[in-house]
This record gives sequence, structure tokens and C-alpha cells, in this order.
Amino acid sequence: MKLEKVVPFGRSLDEYKNMFALSEGDLEKAIVGVGDGPASFNAEMWGLGKSVVSIDPLYVFQAEEIERQFDAVVDDIIEQVKSTPADWVWSYHGSPDYLKQNRRRVLRRFIADYDGGKADGRYLVGELPGLDFEDGRFELALCSHLLFLYSGHLSYEFHLASILEMLRVAAEVRIFPLLTLMLERSPYVQPVMKAVTAMGFLANVEMVNYELQKGGDEMLRIRRSARPLNGGRA
Ligand SMILES: C[S@@+](CC[C@H](N)C(=O)[O-])C[C@H]1O[C@@H](n2cnc3c(N)ncnc32)[C@H](O)[C@@H]1O
Repeated sequence: MKLEKVVPFGRSLDEYKNMFALSEGDLEKAIVGVGDGPASFNAEMWGLGKSVVSIDPLYVFQAEEIERQFDAVVDDIIEQVKSTPADWVWSYHGSPDYLKQNRRRVLRRFIADYDGGKADGRYLVGELPGLDFEDGRFELALCSHLLFLYSGHLSYEFHLASILEMLRVAAEVRIFPLLTLMLERSPYVQPVMKAVTAMGFLANVEMVNYELQKGGDEMLRIRRSARPLNGGRA
């Protein structure tokens, strides 16, 4: 798939649960969704009485403009999907037409929550690689369909700085998928894992129960190590 820039496509709570292997316990954590865009994750969590903070530069816009940006790209994306049938797995979405319907349903759910969520401080304008939060504000940071996927648009330095920033504000970071738009494992995955491991974090790739891009069923989990780097010595 070829895209000029990062597109405002969003996923549902159920997709987030699958992409990030979120347990019921995880859903109770203090969560920041980085690059949540027009996902309905925040709206649906709010509907369940749980609170998520979503960060995205897109939130500078009104709902109408976000919908316009979605409308401007959706048909081209679905056409690219239809013309590359071997690249996709339909166990979740059924077909390209259902995928389009699902994405629009998610967008509508997001838009219905957007103004109220902005007033509550649940949708905040912000962007990687800098997050305007104090250290350790969250238990879990989630980032999907931005890092690694857009490796052709975003440098290794941007990836590493962004991941370290998410690790500054959250005890654990999960990123999905690990494939690029061209369906190859991002060349940044191994260097990022090596770099954060050398800094004392625990990093591992896990298979998850979600696959739309063929082979895109892995997430990266990075946590602060329980063991201090100096072995506990002063
Ligand atoms: C493809 S959407 C994915 C939305 C959501 N995470 C999901 O998986 O459904 C990517 C989002 O990343 C946002 N984005 C682009 N650059 C960003 C940055 N530097 N920091 C945070 N978000 C960014 C875009 O505005 C867009 O909403």
C-alpha cells in the first residue's frame, strides 16, 4: 500500500483489545493512546465507565474536518486493498466493503464522543516525539498504525525518541503492527529492541489475535525492568 502521509483511519475497542492483547485488568489501567486519531477506543471505554487519554495532532481540527480527511482517502485505500487480495486476511473484517463500513462506523462513534471528550480532556492535541505529561503519569501507552507501519515516512531516530518518550510517561508501551505499509517487518524493530534493552528495559515481540495485513499479527511490548541496571548497588 502506498500513502502520501499518515491517514486518519481508526479502530474499535474490540480491535484494540485484539491488537494489544488487552486483558480485563489492562482496561482498568491508566492508559494513554498515542496517535489514536479517529479510533472509537476512547469513546467505547468511556461508555464502559473507564477513562483513556488520547493524543493526536489531528485533534486540532473540528469533527467535520476530520470526517472530510477520512472521506478524502477512504475510497483510494479500499481500492488499493481490493487490488492486492493476497496481502490481506479477512477473518476479522470479512471483505474490503465490510472493512470500509467498519471504519466508517468507528469514525461515527468517535465523532459522537469527540466534542464532549475534548471538553473532558480525553482528546488532547499533541504529537510524538514529545508528550506533555509528567514522568510516570500512565501505566500503559498504546500506539497503533503509526510507528513501524510508517517506517518509510518516519526515521529511526524519530521512532527511538518517540518510544523513549512513551516509556518516560508510562510504565509499559505496546506498539502494533510491526509491519510497514509494504508488508515487511519494519527495519527499525530490531535496532529499537537492542537500544531499549541496552538501557535496561524489557522488550519482547508477541503474537496477537488480530491480522488484517498478512503477517501483521505481532506487537512489541516494552516495560521497565524490575531489576535496576546497576543490580541494586548504590
Ligand atoms: C492510521 S491512524 C491510527 C489511529 C489509531 N491508532 C488506530 O489504530 O485506529 C494514525 C494516527 O497517527 C496520527 N499521527 C501522525 N503523526 C503523529 C505524531 N507525530 N504523534 C502522534 N500521532 C501522530 C495521525 O494523525 C493519525 O490519527
